[in-house]
Amino acid sequence: MTESNQAAVGLVVKLPFATPEEFLAKYGGNITRGGIYLRARAVKPPGTAVTLDLRLAGGERIIYASAVVHFVTGQGGQGVVGMGLRFLNVDPQTRRFLDSAVVTLPHAQSDTPPVPNGVGPADYTVPPTAPPVATVSPAPAAGAPAGGAPAAGTPGRAPAQAAPAAPAGPVMMTDEALGLTTEEPKRTGPVIGIDLGTTNSCAALVRNGRPGVLPSREGHNTVPSIIAVNTRGKLVVGHPAKGQMLTNPRQTVYGAKRLVGRPYASPVVEHIKDRFHYEIIPGANGDAGVKLGDRVYTLQQISALILREVREVAQNQLGHLVSRAVVTVPAYYNDNQRQAVREAGKLAGLYVERILNEPTAAALAYGYGRKLNQRVLVYDLGGGTFDASVLELSDNVYEVISTGGDTFLGGLDFDNAIVAYLLEEFQKKTGRPFQGDRVAMQRINDAAERAKCALSERSEMRVHVAFVTMIDDKPYDLDVTLTRQKLIELTEGLVDRTVRVCEEVLKTKGLGPKDVDEVILVGGQSRFPLVHEKITRFFGKPPSKGVHPDEAVALGAALLAHSLGQLEGVVLIDVLPMAIGVGLPGGRFKPVLERNLSLPSTKSYTVATHRDDQTELELTVLQGDSDKAADNEFLGTIKLTGLPRKPRGGVQVAITFEVNNESLLKVTARETSTGREVTSTFNTRATPEVVKAKLSQLEAEGAHAPAAHAGAVATGPAAPVRAPATNGAPSTATNAPAAAPKHTPARGTTQAPPPVHPVPAVAATAPKQKGFMGWLKGLFGRA
Ligand SMILES: Nc1ncnc2c1ncn2[C@@H]1O[C@H](COP(=O)(O)OP(=O)(O)OP(=O)(O)O)[C@@H](O)[C@H]1O
Ligand SMILES: [Mg+2]
Repeated sequence: MTESNQAAVGLVVKLPFATPEEFLAKYGGNITRGGIYLRARAVKPPGTAVTLDLRLAGGERIIYASAVVHFVTGQGGQGVVGMGLRFLNVDPQTRRFLDSAVVTLPHAQSDTPPVPNGVGPADYTVPPTAPPVATVSPAPAAGAPAGGAPAAGTPGRAPAQAAPAAPAGPVMMTDEALGLTTEEPKRTGPVIGIDLGTTNSCAALVRNGRPGVLPSREGHNTVPSIIAVNTRGKLVVGHPAKGQMLTNPRQTVYGAKRLVGRPYASPVVEHIKDRFHYEIIPGANGDAGVKLGDRVYTLQQISALILREVREVAQNQLGHLVSRAVVTVPAYYNDNQRQAVREAGKLAGLYVERILNEPTAAALAYGYGRKLNQRVLVYDLGGGTFDASVLELSDNVYEVISTGGDTFLGGLDFDNAIVAYLLEEFQKKTGRPFQGDRVAMQRINDAAERAKCALSERSEMRVHVAFVTMIDDKPYDLDVTLTRQKLIELTEGLVDRTVRVCEEVLKTKGLGPKDVDEVILVGGQSRFPLVHEKITRFFGKPPSKGVHPDEAVALGAALLAHSLGQLEGVVLIDVLPMAIGVGLPGGRFKPVLERNLSLPSTKSYTVATHRDDQTELELTVLQGDSDKAADNEFLGTIKLTGLPRKPRGGVQVAITFEVNNESLLKVTARETSTGREVTSTFNTRATPEVVKAKLSQLEAEGAHAPAAHAGAVATGPAAPVRAPATNGAPSTATNAPAAAPKHTPARGTTQAPPPVHPVPAVAATAPKQKGFMGWLKGLFGRA
């Protein structure tokens, strides 16, 4: 292309965005360092010189440049009508804007304008009649207005419409479209251990008797648990997804671990949905879902994409197929969440041999093969949550005796405390409150987190975010020096909260800090020196140096995976992290299985009909520690129909709650008075609102409270027996079954954990395919 001194076409575009951040968030895919793509009703042919004056909704100028039409799109009636403008000369403010903001867009390093996804093919052909390109100074062409909307159709000023194409309505993303596996994975080959973390995920394997993490080809030990649709519409997972988080937060999903397996209407989702930058909306079956582009993803799909990435890292490292894994989950995960992780594993092509609690995994990493006889406390402060668990290790037996935590306390809260301080300092310096959108906030968050990590090693750190906002048309930086002392002041309360949780989990077992032999710190945030100080002070001794805070959980999972193939496997005894029980009239919650109950455990009680000729009985099953039903997580309802017609109290139904050693729940019901076959139907998943409505309906009908009924018989939970599997419960890792997935009966008798109270064989009398003996989860329509 030649360049001459011909006058350029003036192009004034007023954007529908209020801030540069908003512009970048919505339009980042259309800009590079070297150019911009604009939709337009009429385009100028390639080679046309243009003076571009791009302004925000309020009239502030954001880009002022001389440019040339580099290509056009949509000319053959295909795709979107628009043009790519290549910058020739930009004014200093524009250069600053492009350098500081665009530099973080991975696609935007190019010297030419981008061809955004979906606009159709770019045509670079310069027509013979095209006006020659002008080298112009960055001043508007004669007659170009200083601001305002382009005058449509005015010769010499091509009107441009700078809004991205309007998205179509959301559609559910299919597993097939994501290339996820829908078949049962093969159970051959090595079993890897996977730590599926809120922030980072990690794979490990025991090789030559030693556990080690499996690094990626690029040398990373962990994969960021992040997926995104990038500005070109491509799905990216792990490091590339993290790389675009700053500039495209709306399309970047992180923290999925906090959402997976939760109904959209659950209190937790309600609490966190506005804290995340991406869109959380109702998905399949009433579960929370995530909107990316115009598609709705299930959280199982999101988790599966992360697991698949981890699996690929492992396969690349090992050079062969990997299709089996032990996957860790937080101790407090409820039944829905565990099942959802299992499903995610399957979608990722992994047979989940075992779901393992993270603190138990960390304890395994600490004690495996050392024949210890100790009581340890695992302190796990990760990205999103805090967990404290007390375990007793006795040779190869790992028994959790108490567990507790805070699902809203993690590294993120430390970052938030820093961000609040930085914004205060910004206001002090500029005299104005900080005003910025998601992108600006994400950049500040990111800088805060980096400073926080650095302050674990050093005592002072400059936090500098260039051109973070505009005040009175002028760009402003955020520039604050943060000291470790200040960080301690800001976050001491958070660390104190973790210590209080430690105190509580000990106290519930009548223990004190001196009764703990070792404290094991895991989770990235436990690297904060104040954590070490406070733990040392509280326990009267420094924490163990025996485990790596980022790798311990994955290594522990690998060790358990390894032990699955051994005759002398480890014995894991866990506790129930949260009570499981039934909803009562008036919205109350009656625990049937109490928190901290040793697993596996079974508890039965009997309910009787409360009306003459009553043929149906319905129970709502919930999990949580609140005495209000609506505050707990809804697991499902169990409805028995076809009861024999008898006078009130004449029909009794024994309900058995059975939780296996992976905290997976099975509910069995048996009609006791006649032993007659009972047909059961189970509701599909409902929201807490539906549950509440049901409970009040029951109340209106004067339904009885199951456990409180005169005829109710409660049998105590079975005491756990610390003995080899041959003696019965608990099962060893060598024979511990993976919990049976949806509609799958427990595997062969040699593998199934012996129920502590033998469960009468209702299944034999119930219809084979959908008898109510199935795992409760399988009964709620999970795909
Ligand atoms: N050196 C460090 N100092 C302080 N905090 C750190 C350091 N390194 C990482 N972190 C913080 O640790 C957190 C991530 O920890 P980790 O990777 O253990 O979490 P996770 O396992 O993904 O989360 P979770 O266990 O809650 O699922 C982040 O908040 C990160 O900022
Ligand atoms: Mg973790």
